[in-house]
Order: sequence, then C-alpha cells, then structure tokens
Amino acid sequence: MKCLASTHAAALAACLLLALPAAQAADDAAAQKLARDGGCGTCHTVDHTDKGPGGLKPIGPAWRDVADRYRGQAGAADELTRIVRAGSNPYASHWKGKVSGIAMPPNAVVLDEAQTRELVGWILALKPQK
Ligand code: HEC
Repeated sequence: MKCLASTHAAALAACLLLALPAAQAADDAAAQKLARDGGCGTCHTVDHTDKGPGGLKPIGPAWRDVADRYRGQAGAADELTRIVRAGSNPYASHWKGKVSGIAMPPNAVVLDEAQTRELVGWILALKPQK
C-alpha cells in the first residue's frame, strides 16, 4: 500500500483506516511468536477462561487480567518488563492467592529486553474480557 506517497488527505485517511486492522493482526502474530519462543504458555493464557497445557489451570495470571490490573498505570510497562526478565519475587507476590504459581522464574534467558518490552506492551494493550 503506497499510503505515504499519497498527497490527497482523504486517500491518506482511507489508507490509514485500512492499514489499522492489518497492523493489529501483525502485532498479534508477532506477540504470539514471542510468547511461543519465550515458553510463556507453559504458565500463562490470554483469557482466564482458557485452560493451560494438559487442560490444567494456568500457573500464572491470564494476560488479560494483567492488562486490567495495570491499565492506565504510569511506569507499568517498564516495571513489568523488568519483572518478566528478572522473575517475580515470591516474598512480594503481586498475584498471591489468585494464581497457583508461587513465582515467575527469570525469562531473560529466552527473550532479550526489546522482545520482552514488545510482548509486555502487547499484553498491557489487551482489551477487557467480555
Ligand atoms: C514457570 C511459570 C511461568 C512462566 C514460564 C512465565 N510466567 Fe509470567 N508469571 C508466572 C507467575 C506465577 C506469575 C505471578 C507472579 C506474582 O504473583 O507476582 C507471573 C506473572 C507475570 C506477569 C505479571 C507480573 C506482575 O508483577 O504483576 C507478567 C506480565 C508475566 N508473568 C509475563 C510473562 C511472560 C511475557 C512470560 C514469557 C516470556 C512469562 N510470564 C513466563 C509464571 C510464569
């Protein structure tokens, strides 16, 4: 699509409208690949109604619940990127009593900082579950 070459404002606007859903789908595919590469699905699902591997209850919080919890909080993306890379502190659990896992192990070995930031950004942008 030659959106940027367009000088006509209406054509440009139409271009952007068409491009948006495609960009979202590309984001979803990229995030799902990162989550697969990172092995996050061993412990996380997107929706809390999804089942984990082997039909068991997921070990960590559903990512849509993570988005709901931190929505609108300044610094959440930085803080969660740090926690995902370093692992969570079992003595200061953010999801105590809400999930079966005690702590998240460090994920810095599987995803680099930019990849983690991209995935966390996608998680935080998830819309509330219907
Ligand atoms: C071995 C299980 C496991 C794996 C693998 C795992 N997590 Fe977690 N994750 C957890 C648990 C347990 C928690 C809840 C921690 C807490 O209570 O503070 C959690 C919490 C989180 C949170 C919320 C943190 C907070 O402080 O609220 C995010 C975001 C997250 N995980 C993302 C990821 C991503 C991205 C990956 C893959 C790169 C991943 N997790 C891999 C178990 C896991």
